Amino acid sequence: MAMLNNAPRDSFGSKIGVIAAAAGSAVGLGNIWRFPYVAGENGGGAFLLIYLGFILAIGFPVMLAELTIGRRAQLNALGSFKKLAPGKPWYLVGLMGIVAAFLILAFYSTIAGWTLEYLVQAIGNGFSGKSSDALKESFETFQSGSFRPLLWQVIFMFMTGYIVYSGVKKGIEKYAKILMPILLLLIIVMTIRSVTLPGAEGGLNFLFKPDFSKITWPVILDALGQAAFSLSIGMGTLITYGSYIQKDNPLPNIALQVTAADTLMAILAGVMIFPAVFAFNIDPAEGFGLVFIVLPNIFVQMAGGYFFAILFFTLLAIAALTSTVSVLEVVVAYFSEELNMSRNKATIIGSVGITIVGVFATLSFGPLSDFIIFGKTLFGWFDYLSANVLLPIGALMIVLFVGWFMGKAHVKAEITNEGSLKVKMFPVFLWIVRLLAPIAIAVVFLYGINVLKF
Ligand code: PFF
Repeated sequence: MAMLNNAPRDSFGSKIGVIAAAAGSAVGLGNIWRFPYVAGENGGGAFLLIYLGFILAIGFPVMLAELTIGRRAQLNALGSFKKLAPGKPWYLVGLMGIVAAFLILAFYSTIAGWTLEYLVQAIGNGFSGKSSDALKESFETFQSGSFRPLLWQVIFMFMTGYIVYSGVKKGIEKYAKILMPILLLLIIVMTIRSVTLPGAEGGLNFLFKPDFSKITWPVILDALGQAAFSLSIGMGTLITYGSYIQKDNPLPNIALQVTAADTLMAILAGVMIFPAVFAFNIDPAEGFGLVFIVLPNIFVQMAGGYFFAILFFTLLAIAALTSTVSVLEVVVAYFSEELNMSRNKATIIGSVGITIVGVFATLSFGPLSDFIIFGKTLFGWFDYLSANVLLPIGALMIVLFVGWFMGKAHVKAEITNEGSLKVKMFPVFLWIVRLLAPIAIAVVFLYGINVLKF
């Protein structure tokens, strides 16, 4: 198969740059905002265990599979399938990824916008002196409005579009390298403050003492969806990023480090949030607003809280930005390579299109909050459909493709850098992508989706 017939494409500069960019995509609101609220709604500890199991057994192999497809084909998510399986319908998996990108970015940018509002509040010392109830109330007033949440969403999408427009790699690769370690450091500091709050044990028990009576198929599907969402797998983000990785970089090692960084951040976020949830008598099943109510409570109590609040929301916004950029990149790479648009035009059309869908997600908390379809708002559906339906199906198709259709020789050549890298675990990987992962995803999905039967 000719692999060199594409026009020269950009590539990441270094292995550390790849890891920073991919970890930048993986670590985001999914870890700090979504993980705690989904775990909270699903009973805590037992959810965490199942989540970790999925990360290891499914998340890591799917991530490696995606990077392998992307680097082999050197194309966008849809183009990669077309190139590796010419004339076959596999490109539909790429197309589904583009749809997932629209849905994810639509609701993700709502929450990303909230981080900007909270940053501005932090700068204005807006949390100080407020009780836990008052903080909850001010959050609810803010998110149920229209103007401010929409304004922040548009601003966030503009920032995302701007970075993609002006060349993702230099901006993202560079900033991710600087910002990710700072984010880690801050989470550690905040975690220490949180676990030393009086009454923190309740939160640690909630997170680490599994209560298996809470486990149902829909909860297991939630854990799978969260694992996929958090690792940015199942929709071609890592196919797209993989296509920018230089041929001498070790894919297994990159996938491992990104998976480890993402998992560490999710656990730390849980350890940061649940003790404070219990210390301040907040319901762990509070939902979408959990982090925005709990964190300001910690800042109010903490020495230097004013300063930390500003730093934290800045970094949260940036963590979100390195993720939103990666989602937009999927769309832009597709538009520009497959629809022959200039990259700039692709960025504008992609960002504007996603923002328009995103308006509906944002208004789901305000004027559209009564617009409920089968028990969920539009925001709820975007979140559920993308994480629990599209990403698991995407992940399933990706492992099946790599396991059975791409050709073992191609897969092995790409993973071992044409034989120059020893990958002892290759047979294990093959076994997982051929059998274990597809069966596990299919079973969890088919049982979990029963929630749709009313
Ligand atoms: N992984 C990101 C997070 O945890 O915040 C969200 C995300 C980014 C999901 C990119 C999917 C994706 F393709």
